[in-house]
Amino acid sequence: MPRKILVTSALPYANGSIHLGHLVEYIQTDIWVRFQKMRGHDCHYVCADDTHGTPIMLRAEKEGITPEQLVERTWHEHKRDFDGFHVDFDNYYSTNTPETRHYADTIYTRLKAAGLIEVRAIEQFYDPVKEMFLPDRFIKGECPKCHAKDQYGDNCEACGAAYQPTDLIEPYSAVSGAKPVRKQSDHHFFKLSDPRCADFLKQWTADPAHVQAEAANKLGEWLDAGLSDWDISRDAPYFGFEIPGAPGKYYYVWLDAPIGYMGSFQNLCDRTGLDFNEYWKPDSETELYHFIGKDILYFHTLFWPAELAHAGFRTPTGVFCHGFLTVNGLKMSKSRGTFITAESYLNHLNPEWLRYYYAAKLNGSMEDIDLNLEDFAARVNSDLVGKYVNIASRCAGFISKRFGGKLGAVDMNACAEFSSAFAEGAIAASYEERDFGRALREIMRLADVANQYIAERKPWEMAKQEGREAELHEVCSTALTLFRDLTLYLKPVLPKLAEQVEVFLNIAPLAWNDIWSPLPAGHVINDYQHLMTRIDPKKIETMVEENKQSLAPTPEVAAPAPIKHAQHQQNEAKAETAASPWEPFISIDDFTKVDLRIARIAHAEHVEGADKLLKLTLDLGTETRTVFAGIKSAYAPETLVGRLTVMVANLAPRKMKFGMSEGMVCAASDERGGPFLLSPDSGAQPGMRIK
Ligand code: MSP
Ligand code: ZN
Repeated sequence: MPRKILVTSALPYANGSIHLGHLVEYIQTDIWVRFQKMRGHDCHYVCADDTHGTPIMLRAEKEGITPEQLVERTWHEHKRDFDGFHVDFDNYYSTNTPETRHYADTIYTRLKAAGLIEVRAIEQFYDPVKEMFLPDRFIKGECPKCHAKDQYGDNCEACGAAYQPTDLIEPYSAVSGAKPVRKQSDHHFFKLSDPRCADFLKQWTADPAHVQAEAANKLGEWLDAGLSDWDISRDAPYFGFEIPGAPGKYYYVWLDAPIGYMGSFQNLCDRTGLDFNEYWKPDSETELYHFIGKDILYFHTLFWPAELAHAGFRTPTGVFCHGFLTVNGLKMSKSRGTFITAESYLNHLNPEWLRYYYAAKLNGSMEDIDLNLEDFAARVNSDLVGKYVNIASRCAGFISKRFGGKLGAVDMNACAEFSSAFAEGAIAASYEERDFGRALREIMRLADVANQYIAERKPWEMAKQEGREAELHEVCSTALTLFRDLTLYLKPVLPKLAEQVEVFLNIAPLAWNDIWSPLPAGHVINDYQHLMTRIDPKKIETMVEENKQSLAPTPEVAAPAPIKHAQHQQNEAKAETAASPWEPFISIDDFTKVDLRIARIAHAEHVEGADKLLKLTLDLGTETRTVFAGIKSAYAPETLVGRLTVMVANLAPRKMKFGMSEGMVCAASDERGGPFLLSPDSGAQPGMRIK
């Protein structure tokens, strides 16, 4: 009986690029879904962009576009990246859609009717200039514990202390720089503290089918500590869905994000005629699985099932949680060049190499997984090229040249181990349990058996000897059947390579049950075309170098944080960093590259035909430089002569319409005014270095 299965991956935020960390999840889910489909099950894989919230609103504003435009652009980028890695969603949608709004309203209204929504006033920091409430990550100030400056509102990056934004010393808004004020406002809460929720969750999380053992431990701690009510509303201005009957109040992004799974599925149903209700009604016989990272466990195993259970929907069959990606044993980092975007990877390397490597590392647990770049090349080259592809490349030529492309009878004894119920069962069970590493070890063991079969019979010697045609035919036909079987087993991981093999072997798309029938004698195959090249480690180096140089405004990815009680807040924090108004960290070496010097303005004049520029002659003590500076709106030339300022002395000279500019003066500005030229304290002399 085919199972009916609905599978989701977490919805990526619409304000950042897909990177290799994300792909741990999407590749993993895709492999599992492809496996289910190959087994003949009715499996549907949906996802969407997670589009709402303050960071996306501010990012769009910074870029001078509407949030809808930002969301639209990102959707195409994300879709392109997922396609590039052969992540084959049945529907990739967005949360900013009528379907998601419909289910958000349905769930909210039903929870309210059940007495599980409460409105109460809370006091929060408010930015009086920007006229908005500030999420924790948009408030900075001095750490109350170690007094480090410029720390975020939720925790200190210098000493690691966690606190409330209201504990910060001299807080300021990271959006406008203004001093935030405390302001009251009504918020809507989901009453997770209600005994109905706690009782339901204790029972739901105790079922080992629902969550992994590691997750169950964590959840037990959270439940023992007691659940607090969850603040599900935010005040305008906010990019999201306005709450019905509560003007100016919006659903917090994490309320409608998982509901986006329903929205995307509804959209799929509308396109294909699937029955939404069959999958989401409380007593549904279908299965529902969510693949997620460990940073969002709290949302998916507490808030989400509690919401569903009390709003008249089914709850998940299982939540499959995975760990975080490290690269060469460390968290991904821009300065090391290991913050690698999907796009940049695809510019240099074959996506199936990464699919294979991730699969080899995944075991269905919540442990972090490491992409060791050296091991990556070695593993792919030895397993895929050295063991697997090698089987076909050694035998296919004989079939084409000596037997007109026609296969002969196969050696059933040699095939026995491959199509044994034991091998098949072990591989299928490993895929089902998401222990892809074990599945691949088993498959590579079979590849060794196939290679040994060929090595013992030496078809290349048979080919040179008279009267061994029949033997040669049997050995090569058998080897190609074994190769077909390996391809079948690898197909969930390597779907494109499997397609190439299907063309080469001239067979219908491989389904799991094909394992039981060998390629028939007389079947005609096509000429062998090269299937996969080895990884050239130089290409990996080039990719890493390129990512070091890239100045894309993506932040360092949040550390693979240990799961804490406040984990749900940390994920919000992670999202909000993405729209941080600050440039990413640089090292002191990066800073030293900028040669900042004290300069005396020896001469200043208007530039004929330029309405923004002044021409400055800057005295550096030992030499003078000509610089065109865009400060005409704020300074009359005669007021500048004689004063000291700061210049970038090693900015590459630039030819402008009016002459060569040999540096740059430093000035401050933003929407509040400027430019304001810098001046050193008295005593500074022309040519002094700023460091
Ligand atoms: N938008 C939320 C999810 C909402 S689901 C209703 C979110 N988005 S995310 O873009 O930050 O992450 C999407 C998924 O990718 C999450 O499951 C997250 O755990 C996973 N990963 C993001 N970075 C990762 C690594 N560096 N390593 C492994 N998985 C990571 O969270
Ligand atoms: Zn501190």
